[in-house]
Amino acid sequence: MPKPFLTLDDIDVRGKRVLVRADLNVPVRDGKVTDATRIERLAPTIEALLAKGAAVVVMSHFGRPKGADPKLSLRPVLPALRTALGGREIAFAEDCVGPPAERVVKALRPGQVALLENLRFHPGEEENSLEFARALAALGEVYVDDAFSAAHRAHASIAAIAELLPAAAGRSMEAELDALAAALDHPDRPVMALVGGAKVSTKLDLLRFVIGKVDCLAIGGAMANTLLFAQGVAVGRSLCEHDMADNARRLVALAAERGCRLILPEDAVVAPQLAAGVATQSVSVGAVGPDMMILDIGAKTVGRIEAALDDAKTLVWNGPLGAFETPPFDRGTAAVAKKVAALTRAGHLRSVAGGGDTVAALAAAGVSDQLSYVSTAGGAFLEWLEGRELPGVAALAAAARRG
Ligand code: 3PG
Ligand code: MG
Repeated sequence: MPKPFLTLDDIDVRGKRVLVRADLNVPVRDGKVTDATRIERLAPTIEALLAKGAAVVVMSHFGRPKGADPKLSLRPVLPALRTALGGREIAFAEDCVGPPAERVVKALRPGQVALLENLRFHPGEEENSLEFARALAALGEVYVDDAFSAAHRAHASIAAIAELLPAAAGRSMEAELDALAAALDHPDRPVMALVGGAKVSTKLDLLRFVIGKVDCLAIGGAMANTLLFAQGVAVGRSLCEHDMADNARRLVALAAERGCRLILPEDAVVAPQLAAGVATQSVSVGAVGPDMMILDIGAKTVGRIEAALDDAKTLVWNGPLGAFETPPFDRGTAAVAKKVAALTRAGHLRSVAGGGDTVAALAAAGVSDQLSYVSTAGGAFLEWLEGRELPGVAALAAAARRG
């Protein structure tokens, strides 16, 4: 199937300056990058461009500054980027446009890399300003977007710029879009979705879209409490959005209408409070005491989800199934994660997961590297799961149509 976007294989970059939109919005503590996953995934794109004889100019946002803010400089990210590129020297431009950027970029030779200062120091970035996009575009001759995790932002370095230069997806963007398409656009069936997290209210669009796409949907996390409550089940003091009961019932009806099998918890691990090491009980969902909180799915529910996974060919996963940050309420999520990993390793399942908490839960279960694809995107992954068009992806598609 031809891809709806150009890739590094389609563009000629020899002797050219290539502007690479990266997502270097990585966690930094005390001036040091604490999780370099996004940087490591960017490295192959930069290396491929350098190998093709390009000079590479990396640009990214960092945090949410209001105007120039030294506390949100991209400079602390330089050492980690350098490490990911095998110790290569990287020039740094104190501003992402104007004379400082022009000076650094002009001095760049094929095979060399520069990093520009935080794009969001200029309001034109978030305004998707054409003028700001022109100032960026003046720094290079080709544009490569390797920032899927920022693709839900219609910002100048993501949207407007792709109309000004030949535009292609970087390796990590390409891998992400391929993985997502294989999971929901043209999946091997049956397709199953696992959705967890705290609230139904923040995932209504997601649940509606997913119900229309998959054959089976298993729901865990506190959002399951809302669905159970809506069906008349007592949930005690559990986290529950009582005012979402009507919406929850409509979701259940929609699933029935669309022929999507819904798996809700049938048993739960409960405790009087959410704290590490508290005394817990396993109960069926009809037997949650008035002073108890549901904090994880129970063993029977895990078994039911595992059996559904055995039948599935494709899985999309967003959201933990219990209060996984506080042991022992990580057990349900960890058991399901291990099952997903085992089926994936055995070649029985294509598994795609994403969203901040989900990635943390998979890491806690020690299986992050054992799924088919784990997205580093938060908001962009969720918007994709809502069936929304992502401006960054749309811009690449438009550029491909333009040729
Ligand atoms: C992220 O980390 O989710 C992306 O970099 C997007 O950042 P934003 O939510 O500040 O646009
Ligand atoms: Mg975000």
